[in-house]
Amino acid sequence: MRIVVTGAAGFIGSHLAERLLADGHDVVGLDAFTPYYDRTRKESNLRAAMASERFGFVELDLRTDDLAPALDGADCIIHEAAMPGLPLSWTDVAGYASCNVVGTARLLDAAVRAEVGRFVHVSTSSVYGRTATGDETAPTRPISPYGITKLAAEHLVAAYREAHGLPAVVLRYFSVYGPRQRPDMAYHIFIERLRRGQPLVVFGDGRQTRSSTFVADCVDGTVRAMHHGVVGETYNIGGAAVQSVLEVVDMLGQLLDVRPAIEFAPARIGDQQDTVADYHRAAAAFGYRPTTLPIDGLAAQVRWHLDSIAP
Ligand SMILES: NC(=O)c1ccc[n+]([C@@H]2O[C@H](COP(=O)([O-])OP(=O)(O)OC[C@H]3O[C@@H](n4cnc5c(N)ncnc54)[C@H](O)[C@@H]3O)[C@@H](O)[C@H]2O)c1
Repeated sequence: MRIVVTGAAGFIGSHLAERLLADGHDVVGLDAFTPYYDRTRKESNLRAAMASERFGFVELDLRTDDLAPALDGADCIIHEAAMPGLPLSWTDVAGYASCNVVGTARLLDAAVRAEVGRFVHVSTSSVYGRTATGDETAPTRPISPYGITKLAAEHLVAAYREAHGLPAVVLRYFSVYGPRQRPDMAYHIFIERLRRGQPLVVFGDGRQTRSSTFVADCVDGTVRAMHHGVVGETYNIGGAAVQSVLEVVDMLGQLLDVRPAIEFAPARIGDQQDTVADYHRAAAAFGYRPTTLPIDGLAAQVRWHLDSIAP
């Protein structure tokens, strides 16, 4: 198949591109290198995929560029590109709205014109709101501009499916971790501070829970959904175990052989309290089973961090 991956230079998109290439597909990666974090980091994310003859990369912005040439002949689009992360979304609503809503609308429009056979839309547990502990029928009450723009994008996908028959599937990822994790994400920051012998800042009491998803499991769920997800359905994609933030910090301390010093700060506006993925629907529909245990996934991220970020 010829598969277009948007956001291919990002954390998850770059892993996904590599997995699709390993599965024998032709992959076209699209990315605008938005300044959310360093361009050189995104270029290094792309390096392995770039080595494949079956990978083509187009630098373009979904908000403004002509998308038709890049989608020509595509069997499937997997839409990873977005402005991610919650805190910045309070101060750059326009940036989030333009990338996550306008960019998605333009991509959907181009996908209909290109008559792609499959559109996999990547969304987030943030659409649920303060707690995300139920299944996909739980109410969507996002509490950050990020979550609101991602929910708006889901509605656009549904509208294009209804109005234009776009064969779309929606995935809601629950926080993803592993090698190449974005530098603004908690585990990345924790590892860097522990490595430097600096205290960690934990927002809230640290007892908030997460069923974080190792990136290879998340990618596996995405590929399975591409092949077997039911058009019109929405699936939670989450991790293998539930942990509190303090348990993760403890594990990272063991892996780095340091005793973490923790400073507690008030919970940030828009932070989620508990996000525990119920992924039964994905398990039933396409056999999704996250298999990476936190200690193994965190060890892989620590190894990557020490080799690539702080050699
Ligand atoms: N990382 C997580 O824990 C997590 C959790 C839930 C959902 N998600 C979703 O997964 C997807 C990937 O997230 P990530 O963590 O890999 O983020 P990332 O920032 O590493 O990757 C996103 C990529 O999209 C690109 N992009 C953004 N706007 C663009 C535009 N207008 N045109 C072209 N390219 C554009 C960026 O340059 C970036 O390389 C996002 O849709 C995000 O909302 C991520």
